[in-house]
Parts: sequence; C-alpha cells; structure tokens
Amino acid sequence: MAGPDTRAAIIDGKAFAAGLVERVAAASARLEATHGLKPGLAVVIVGEDPASQIYVRNKGETTARAGMRSDTHRLADTISQAELLALVGTLNADAGIHGILVQLPLPAQIDSSAVLGAIDPDKDVDGFHVVNAGRLAVGLPGLVPCTPLGSTMLLKHQLGDLSGLNAVIVGRSNIVGKPMAQLLLAENCTVTIAHSRSRDLPALCRAADILVAAVGRPEMIRGDWIKPGATVIDVGINRVPSADPVKAAEGRTRVVGDVAFAEAVTVAGAITPVPGGVGPMTIACLLANTYNAACRAAGIEPERLDA
Ligand code: GUN
Repeated sequence: MAGPDTRAAIIDGKAFAAGLVERVAAASARLEATHGLKPGLAVVIVGEDPASQIYVRNKGETTARAGMRSDTHRLADTISQAELLALVGTLNADAGIHGILVQLPLPAQIDSSAVLGAIDPDKDVDGFHVVNAGRLAVGLPGLVPCTPLGSTMLLKHQLGDLSGLNAVIVGRSNIVGKPMAQLLLAENCTVTIAHSRSRDLPALCRAADILVAAVGRPEMIRGDWIKPGATVIDVGINRVPSADPVKAAEGRTRVVGDVAFAEAVTVAGAITPVPGGVGPMTIACLLANTYNAACRAAGIEPERLDA
C-alpha cells in the first residue's frame, strides 16, 4: 500500500499495448500465411476536428505497422447523412474490410446513432452497435468497446483475479462507463456506476478497491477520494494550459487525466499514468478486435492474444 513514504506502482499501459500490438501482428501474419487472409480496418473521419485527426492518424499508422490493411476515408464536414450511410454500406459489403470505425464526434447534421447502427455488427470494431452492447450485457460473444476492454486487461494483469472486489466507475457513457461496468461484472466485481448527479462522490470513490475515472474533467478525482492501496484506472485525456505560465501564455498545453495524479500516486496501490496508461491500450484493442473480426468472418478460430 502506498503512504507518505511509498508511491503507487505505475501501470505501464504503453508497454502492455506494445506487447499486444506485437501479438496481433504475429497472429495476423500467421493468418495471412496459412489462409491468405489479411485483416483490414477502415476508419472514417468527417471534418477537421484536430483531436480526431490525431487519433485517426495514430490508428492508421499502428494498423499498417501491424501488417494489416488500413484504409482511411476523409470526408468533408458538409457531407450528408445519406452519403455517409452509402459509404458505410459499401464498407459493409467489402470482403477485404473486417473492421469499420466511424470516428466520433460527427457534425450536427448527422444522426450519429443512425450511422453507428448501419455498421454490420460483426465489423463494428468500436463495439458501439446496440447489438454488441446487448451481446456484452447478456454475456454473448461480440465486439467489445476498446477503451474498457484495454482497461480490464490492465486490471487483470495488475491484480489477477478480480472476484469480489468493489469497483467504482465514475462516468456513465455508452463508450466507456456502461461497458466497463459490464466487463467488471463479468469478472465478478461488485460494481457501482457513479456520475455527475451521484451524492457524495468522494465517499463512493473511497469505497473502491478498483476506481475507474471516465468523466472527462481534468484532475477532478483527488487523492483523498482514494482508498489507500486501491487500483486506479484513469481514462481521462484532457488538454489543459501548460503548468509553466510562460508556456501557457504562448498557448502551450499538456495532457492530464481525470485523476489528480500527483496526489493519487501517494495513496493508491497502483495507477495508470496519463499519457501512457489507458490511451495506448485503446488502439491496441482496436487492432485485436479487427484481427478477431477477420477470423470470425472466415470461420477461423482466432489465436489467443493474452500476454
Ligand atoms: N472518439 C473518441 N474516442 C473514440 C473511439 O474510441 N471511437 C470512435 N469511433 N470515436 C471516438
């Protein structure tokens, strides 16, 4: 347990993700050698949102480095819903594409849930389709959202068996909070989903053996909200002004999580850093989902990708 003279173990998501990408690359190379099947991922980005541009470039580069096919479709933010749906239809029908990801957020004229709902659930490598949300909820095999999947891998790597642990998830999004709750329930945790309307959030957090922060508010979760020895997973990626006032005045920024790391690291037993924690796991899990989708589409049993 961390205390005044001890510090939490830092959970190295970057290293874990690099290992997972290597395993996916090796499994994909074997799939191509034995079955002539190269997994393919299509990423669709609409408009010029700078954060989305960076995410999409990283996804494309990592996919290509893993020896998989990577197609990026860049569309103007004036595109109509019908045009976007037509592209999704073309990708659904393309036998060389096994994963489709439509980067969010989409412009206001587009109905995001209609677009996500048009993706073939078996190519839905984001795991956002209601069919995959339903499969996860009832324990059927399906594609699982990448950020909670990667977070759960880190927790199991760090703690081993999660049975009986109290898990508190702060944030109730469809992309992270809700699927994270399903995954931890499947690992036999006692799960609480807290959110902006929860009463006495610090007290709820203090009950957590596993605390997952996915609220999108910089450093909201303080050190004294954390139970000594708890494992903290920080999903937040928040851009804030640089800590150096001169650099901040020049418009320089830095990235922080949803957890006040400098405080938390003196209390927690283990914690993911930002950057270098959950973020790299998200892309690694996207590649793993694409590999698994390619195998399943061809009726081939995928290799296990666990460490
Ligand atoms: N925007 C921010 N994160 C994500 C993600 O994981 N998937 C998609 N499709 N869009 C995002």
